[in-house]
Amino acid sequence: MKTATLHETGEATTVMSGKEIVDLSRKHTLFEWSAQAKVDPIPVVRAEGIYFWTPEGKRFIDFNSQLMSVNIGHGDKRVVKAIQEQAATLPYVSPHMATEPRARLGAKLAEISPGDIDVFFFTNGGSDANENAIKIARLFTGRHKVLARYRSYHGGTAGSSSLTGDPRRWAAEPGISGVVHVLDPYHGLARGWDSAQASLAMLEEIIQLEGPRSIAAFILETVTGTNGVLVPPDGYLQGVRALCDKYGILMIADEVMAGFGRTGEWFAVNHWNVVPDMITMAKGLTSSYIPLGAVGMRRKIADHFSDNVFYGGLTYNSHPLGCAAALATIRVYEEDRLLDNARQMGEIMSELLNDLEKKHPSVGAVRSIGLFGIVELIRNRRTRDPLAPFNATSEEMQALNRFFREQGFYTFVRWNVFYTNPPLCINEAQLREGFAIIDRALEITDKAVTD
Ligand SMILES: Cc1ncc(COP(=O)(O)O)c(C=O)c1O
Repeated sequence: MKTATLHETGEATTVMSGKEIVDLSRKHTLFEWSAQAKVDPIPVVRAEGIYFWTPEGKRFIDFNSQLMSVNIGHGDKRVVKAIQEQAATLPYVSPHMATEPRARLGAKLAEISPGDIDVFFFTNGGSDANENAIKIARLFTGRHKVLARYRSYHGGTAGSSSLTGDPRRWAAEPGISGVVHVLDPYHGLARGWDSAQASLAMLEEIIQLEGPRSIAAFILETVTGTNGVLVPPDGYLQGVRALCDKYGILMIADEVMAGFGRTGEWFAVNHWNVVPDMITMAKGLTSSYIPLGAVGMRRKIADHFSDNVFYGGLTYNSHPLGCAAALATIRVYEEDRLLDNARQMGEIMSELLNDLEKKHPSVGAVRSIGLFGIVELIRNRRTRDPLAPFNATSEEMQALNRFFREQGFYTFVRWNVFYTNPPLCINEAQLREGFAIIDRALEITDKAVTD
């Protein structure tokens, strides 16, 4: 490779230019969920706090915590040091061994997880946490079917793709057997929300029609992430818990995105005082510094495996680097009081989102809880027609995305929505800095509004 030019951006030094990094990555690697000819990745060389930089020194404000996952912010030296020290001591042993970071992380998660969830199986990420959760549910109940919702994402592996309700499931079909999808309380901009009561009645009807004794589990994102930051109506999660209890169905809360302070609580279920039977987590667990996921389960489920074999395993289960990174990350949440900050900044963010809705005709809806936020854009205020169709984009959404990029503002733009999910260490001035860019960007989409 003839790339000798050194690019210096603060502390980071690279030999490749941004263009060289992008070209070579596109030539030899596949990017996710995209036709490769259309991808246009941002080359990144360094990141700190809520910002990241290209090799040429262009700074971006990260308003999505990358993949809603770098919750503590970028480049935290305390976590980096913990990883370095663990790497120097014991980077890996087989999961048949017991290590101190594994032992301490299990105990720490038992302390912060809801109710009597105090046993954990560690995975590589969220998808395989969900795979293992449904495996455990089937082994524990002796039942086969699993309920999941349409407006959901549970992962990209075979089983978790089948659980996924959104179009990312389609390519994986026919998928694994026994998955039954149910509707959510939310039905899109035009039709809006069902009451908790109506949604629970629909759920119970489906349970009866499917045969309650054949259903092992109901898996659901407590606050739905990539399908719209859908905060359930009060009473919904409590009602799901009650129905699961009534029919002996295990409730699995997928908190891969909503967990670890994103909503201002360790786990989003805490807002409704619900204890699921299992909880899956990843992303914020290590703030993504090292890949790690986990399935947490209540004691009664773990006890089942005292005498019955737990048929599950992964080479990187309980990876010492992941466990050390998670312990250090959890310490950062605690030391820096990031859950409090998420709540406080979340209140300001909610006001800023409401201001956008009042000011910009293209804003059809805003929703947020803690620092988990979304803006839904419309083309017509009367019909509430979305600015891009379901599972597609539009010229206006692309123009919005381009403007964000030019302005050094990064967030997740999908269909007719974009997200406001900054790292939980953000302060008020930084939050306002991001929203000032959004405010200007929405002038582009306002022009598309016809009625
Ligand atoms: C709610 C939810 N569950 C599961 C997953 C899959 O996790 P991973 O990509 O770590 O496998 C994701 C990823 O975005 C998610 O948002």
